[in-house]
Amino acid sequence: MNTSSASLPGGTWTLGDLTVTRFGYGAMQLAGPGVMGPPADHDGALAVLREAADLGITHIDTAGAYGPRVTNRLIREALHPYAESLHIVTKVGAVRDEQGGWPPARRPEDLRRAVHENLEDLGLDALDVVNLRLGDAQGPRPGSLAEPFETLVELQQQGLIRHLGVSNATAEQVAEAQAIAPIVCVQNMYNLAYRQDDELIDDLAAKGIAYVPFFPLGGFTPLQSTALSAVAARLGATPMSVALAWLLRRSPNILLIPGTSSVAHLRENVAGAGLSLSDEELAELDKIGR
Ligand SMILES: NC(=O)c1ccc[n+]([C@@H]2O[C@H](COP(=O)([O-])OP(=O)(O)OC[C@H]3O[C@@H](n4cnc5c(N)ncnc54)[C@H](OP(=O)(O)O)[C@@H]3O)[C@@H](O)[C@H]2O)c1
Repeated sequence: MNTSSASLPGGTWTLGDLTVTRFGYGAMQLAGPGVMGPPADHDGALAVLREAADLGITHIDTAGAYGPRVTNRLIREALHPYAESLHIVTKVGAVRDEQGGWPPARRPEDLRRAVHENLEDLGLDALDVVNLRLGDAQGPRPGSLAEPFETLVELQQQGLIRHLGVSNATAEQVAEAQAIAPIVCVQNMYNLAYRQDDELIDDLAAKGIAYVPFFPLGGFTPLQSTALSAVAARLGATPMSVALAWLLRRSPNILLIPGTSSVAHLRENVAGAGLSLSDEELAELDKIGR
């Protein structure tokens, strides 16, 4: 690990046997509008990825469905051959339709194809971490994950996947996955204002499993709250910085993957996540999503 990795806000976490910086980067915003097609600024997208690596970030989150197959190819173009310290986490279980929707694709043949496409597009022989994406665009849905998850376990046994995780999952599905095979992370929607998973986060922390919130900054609708703005104004910081710093403080197993298509925002977010919050400010922020 380089010096900057060690000094990124939040330090590091271990996903199975892979050390990653708790401050990671979510690559979804690099594809075109609606996460479809190529970026408007191809060189700008490559610059964001290279800046992430230069800042010492060693965790990049992606999916074959971004673009589709756009984001992964950008990651390869920008960063291959990858530094040994860099770990790319991808997702399978959804594809894209012509309207830009995200229909599920969780039959065994869909998952095998998705894993092979990820390997090809990223230029890897094995994927570091693969999350099985469950539910749909509206959120998690109840139901057994046994069949699709067991397909991923088979691919892991074939040496194509190092570690497994689940995404957009209910607490019951997380428990079901753990009963089938070890998981190293859960990636669900969570942020200062949306806190459905508080209990799950604490439970995973006790088990040493990472919780990776997607939409940490509110996703396509930026986080807005009077209380958040008030704390940010008092600290002379942006609401985004406060939201990221709060997540790092919320639990040691939380890994950040804020998305951006801008080098300036990426730098701003890394600096902002290092903001120090007093107990009083934490208590005030804690009330927002409760
Ligand atoms: N598992 C799943 O189902 C799932 C679903 C959604 C996302 N994800 C993952 O989670 C990652 C994060 O989610 P996300 O990117 O959708 O949402 P996010 O991180 O909550 O927010 C990203 C948005 O915030 C803006 N932004 C970032 N930094 C900013 C700053 N300093 N100032 C102003 N605006 C800023 C970005 O615009 P700019 O580009 O202009 O900076 C972008 O519009 C994704 O990249 C993806 O890897 C997973």
